[in-house]
Amino acid sequence: MDTQTFRKQIDITPNLKESLCYFLKTSRYSGAVLVSSDNIFQRYGQDVLESCQDAGLSIFPFMMENGEKSKTLATAEACWQQMHTKGLDRSSLVIALGGGVVTDVAGFIAACYMRGIDVIHLPTTLLAMVDAAIGGKTGVNLPSGKNLIGAFHHPKLVLAACNTLKTLPARELRSGIAEVIKYGVIKDPALFAFLEKNMDALLSLDPHAIAHVISCSCSIKTEIVQEDEKERGTRAFLNYGHTFAHALETATHYHSYLHGEAVSIGMCCAAITSRLMGLTDDALVRRLKDLCLKAGLPVKLPSDIDINRFITLMEGDKKASFGKIHLILPETLGSVRRIANVDRAIIRQALIESQGLKP
Ligand SMILES: NC(=O)c1ccc[n+]([C@@H]2O[C@H](COP(=O)([O-])OP(=O)(O)OC[C@H]3O[C@@H](n4cnc5c(N)ncnc54)[C@H](O)[C@@H]3O)[C@@H](O)[C@H]2O)c1
Repeated sequence: MDTQTFRKQIDITPNLKESLCYFLKTSRYSGAVLVSSDNIFQRYGQDVLESCQDAGLSIFPFMMENGEKSKTLATAEACWQQMHTKGLDRSSLVIALGGGVVTDVAGFIAACYMRGIDVIHLPTTLLAMVDAAIGGKTGVNLPSGKNLIGAFHHPKLVLAACNTLKTLPARELRSGIAEVIKYGVIKDPALFAFLEKNMDALLSLDPHAIAHVISCSCSIKTEIVQEDEKERGTRAFLNYGHTFAHALETATHYHSYLHGEAVSIGMCCAAITSRLMGLTDDALVRRLKDLCLKAGLPVKLPSDIDINRFITLMEGDKKASFGKIHLILPETLGSVRRIANVDRAIIRQALIESQGLKP
């Protein structure tokens, strides 16, 4: 898929209802299912149902439980069964309304139903707007690990309705900002500088600041995905900070940190590793740490984390191979490198230094 097509699929809008209705009126679907969870459906579901009604499209809601625990094959199967019972055919549509959990599951439902039907995403968290809803990765968890079952399936449309962020808990908003900071580090020094200057505006949901960061983030992600859809090369840059983050999430049983919070700590650990390897300077580490703190994100690894176990968890990450740890490390702002088989002694030193970081 070329970049132009990708970009046309992403729309940042204050008005979900109007934009959705326009899209549906210009498409031909035989029916639709709206995948969401109760708390989000109660707030924004009616707009989606009314858009479908205005466009003459029959739709039924499928509610999944809120949270990661419902990102399972059982949820997908229950939805497939209802879709079949309601007579949805190959020309039908899945509409996802929610955060990354909903868009991942709904995308997977669409990828497999009758060997693939269209999906459109209406992300309602910043993280889903800048990351989960774009790029085509869909999936569910297994009891033994996250996102282990899935498929690549690109949405026909992503409508980022910024107004929905008004009801998003502040901690969830900050978690999404971590992924925006990531885009600044890996590809866009101007975005990083914008965040340094405008963090307060962003946290208070200034419409221009929000639209700007969503637009920059989507452009960077689509460009990278377009270059390397199946993650054989540069798409791995999007994992900056994530090998540390996944180990931290596993070590703390997914209870203590939201994903973006773990990514914030992970990005700082990776930057310290880079400095210890002589690939970057202390100024980058400091700017990154200061920006994450400005966003209200944690930056230091908790002191009660067992470093040996942490490194073992990093070796077991999906992105590791044969127990070797490969990391995405920053050189300058906007430029990262993949370093294969990073020396464990350096990682250990970086983790210890991270535990001692002064906020
Ligand atoms: N496919 C990808 O490329 C990709 C990329 C990054 C993350 N992900 C996945 O995304 C998931 C995390 O997504 P997330 O951070 O959006 O979490 P989430 O979907 O769990 O949403 C976070 C919380 O916010 C609530 N919420 C959502 N929108 C709201 C709104 N507008 N107002 C009030 N409450 C709202 C949700 O009900 C939930 O309780 C993970 O499962 C992760 O694996 C996927």
